Amino acid sequence: MATLDARGITAWFGDHQVLDRVSLTMPAGAVTALIGPSGCGKSTFLRILNRMHELVPSASLAGEVMLDGEDIYRADRPLTEARKHIGMVFQKPNPFPAMSIYDNVIAGLKLTGMSVSRDRKDELVETSLTRAGLWKEVKDRLRAPGGGLSGGQQQRLCIARSLAVMPRVLLMDEPCSALDPTSTRVIEETMLELQKEVTIVIVTHNMQQAQRVSTKCAFFLAAQGTPGAIVEHGDTEAMFESPIDPRTYDYVNGRFG
Ligand SMILES: Nc1ncnc2c1ncn2[C@@H]1O[C@H](COP(=O)(O)OP(=O)(O)OP(=O)(O)O)[C@@H](O)[C@H]1O
Ligand SMILES: [Mg+2]
Repeated sequence: MATLDARGITAWFGDHQVLDRVSLTMPAGAVTALIGPSGCGKSTFLRILNRMHELVPSASLAGEVMLDGEDIYRADRPLTEARKHIGMVFQKPNPFPAMSIYDNVIAGLKLTGMSVSRDRKDELVETSLTRAGLWKEVKDRLRAPGGGLSGGQQQRLCIARSLAVMPRVLLMDEPCSALDPTSTRVIEETMLELQKEVTIVIVTHNMQQAQRVSTKCAFFLAAQGTPGAIVEHGDTEAMFESPIDPRTYDYVNGRFG
């Protein structure tokens, strides 16, 4: 578990600036929710937090991302190190469909260069699936393909896959938007459990979800033709009950976006 501190993040795709000097501390042991209308740069910001933004050929950025005081963009730090410590779960569940549930969970180990003994693998698969709230449902069919699970189960499998590499931070980009209310509930419960061990940052368009799962919240906005920036951030309760900025008030009350 670690604190993630973004300082003065500015981002571009080619010469199109999409974020302007975004600074945000995402504290250890908490769930931070990023909210705001479509296109304001939430996903871009999230991708900058684990060095995925730089995979887009035209993309560039300025600013710093500190993981417990260490810059993840420092020149002598390999990209895989940031990925290992900072996991990501996407909007659309993306398990390897033909691969077994078991192998899906440990698929990230190789990619991050971790080698693990057979016994330790069994243990890791069980603990990761348990932490992701999926163990009971799949323990008797670990050799079945990941693609055979329901959407909600697949998303929890992806969470288990992220957890298996023991990240200190878990980034989640609209993780429930493709799921039914019951699966959503299960994932939210999983997040509330996980926050004791992993720092969580979630992007959500669901205001109820932001209130249910997060203790910290940041409201992003890109006013007509300008890059995205944070309008207001703070404790989730205050952001929803007594926001300072009228634009925050309008957004959290469903007046736009
Ligand atoms: N790969 C890309 N190439 C060029 N422009 C991009 C790329 N990805 C995103 N953008 C642009 O960056 C801006 C921010 O997009 P981003 O996906 O970060 O927004 P978002 O807040 O996550 O939106 P949504 O809520 O719809 O997911 C948008 O103007 C978008 O068109
Ligand atoms: Mg997005």
